[in-house]
Amino acid sequence: MKTNLLIVLAAGVFSLSACTNNPEKQSAQNASSDSVSNQVMIPEKSNFQTTIDGKQTDLYVLTNQNDMKVAITNYGGRIVSIIVPDKDGKMVDVNLGYEKVSGYQQANEPYFGALIGRYGNRIGNAQFTLDGKAYKLPANDNGQSLHGGPKGFHAQVWDAKKINDYTLELTYLSKDGEEGYPGNLNVKVVYSLTNDNAIKMDYTATTDKATVVNLTNHAYFNLNGEGNGSINNHVLLINADKFTPVNASLIPTGELKSVKGTPFDFTTPTAIGQRVDADDEQLKFGKGYDHNFALTNSSTELKQAALVSSPQTGITLEVLTTEPGIQFYGGNFLDGKLTDGKGGKKYEHRSGFCLETQHFPDSPNQTSFPSTVLKPGETYSSTTLYKFATKQQ
Ligand code: BGC
Repeated sequence: MKTNLLIVLAAGVFSLSACTNNPEKQSAQNASSDSVSNQVMIPEKSNFQTTIDGKQTDLYVLTNQNDMKVAITNYGGRIVSIIVPDKDGKMVDVNLGYEKVSGYQQANEPYFGALIGRYGNRIGNAQFTLDGKAYKLPANDNGQSLHGGPKGFHAQVWDAKKINDYTLELTYLSKDGEEGYPGNLNVKVVYSLTNDNAIKMDYTATTDKATVVNLTNHAYFNLNGEGNGSINNHVLLINADKFTPVNASLIPTGELKSVKGTPFDFTTPTAIGQRVDADDEQLKFGKGYDHNFALTNSSTELKQAALVSSPQTGITLEVLTTEPGIQFYGGNFLDGKLTDGKGGKKYEHRSGFCLETQHFPDSPNQTSFPSTVLKPGETYSSTTLYKFATKQQ
């Protein structure tokens, strides 16, 4: 624990409206804070410093004026820790993850915090046809392709450039043919931590051959604190009047179905657990929520996609995106068997949720869905914000 980065913050510096920009006031608040109950740890940097695939990995910490902290490793471009205050001013890490980079290399690792590409979510039968040519992908999920394949972007070492205290730029060249996809794809993801407590992710990509691209982030959140029980008591709003139902292999049927009168209606804030075990075929297929929601406003402008809050801690997460869809995954496949979780935690069933902004799953095979094709000369561009706030008592 010697060199662990200790984050000790005082109550009230981080709220919906108030933030402290005055360094003197800030340090007075820090000095008067309860240094035992307010301690929260970012894993040691040295636990992330190694060589993978001949490239150096590391851990980078972003900080904003309110002393919110976000730790990111360039292994898979993964968010490792997100540290925000709860309603009592106690600092909480709301992001599930591992103590060491080796945790993220485990075979059963569920994409904690990862950048996902070249194609987020599933492509049916692990194949697609583009410009008359068939492409075969590695089938890493029950005959389907999931999250860009076993060696997708989540398992690659990105080149990292820390621009300033609050900005990290990650770049990666995905070579022609990598994981079955055509074209050399140059990808850039800029993570910035804003002073209104948002993790902003700007994705851009260019290619030298026509290809398909669907990039996202796979952070698992628990707004009660990572490892702190079920997320079913969280209250969720999703601004989607339709979702894309799936078959038993979790591939969309092609239908855009109204959420009205179904357990998928989150157009008004509803506890996640309220209907998760309802007698519903779609919930059975997903073993709970694991579905793409088609945002009511599908434009490429930045708009609110979802808003989640924990009544327990008062922490809220707002998701804004330029994407037309969002995958709400309720942590159904977490089983308490992972090792090396932060503080030795094992992460039980439904103890984390993901809100993955995206184009719809299986779009390369579904002509009615918004296109994911990127051609030479075009620039793929996508922005998502995970914005945090704390409702004061
Ligand atoms: C998928 C789930 C999958 C999870 C972790 C989500 O994006 O929709 O089906 O189990 O990622 O692998």
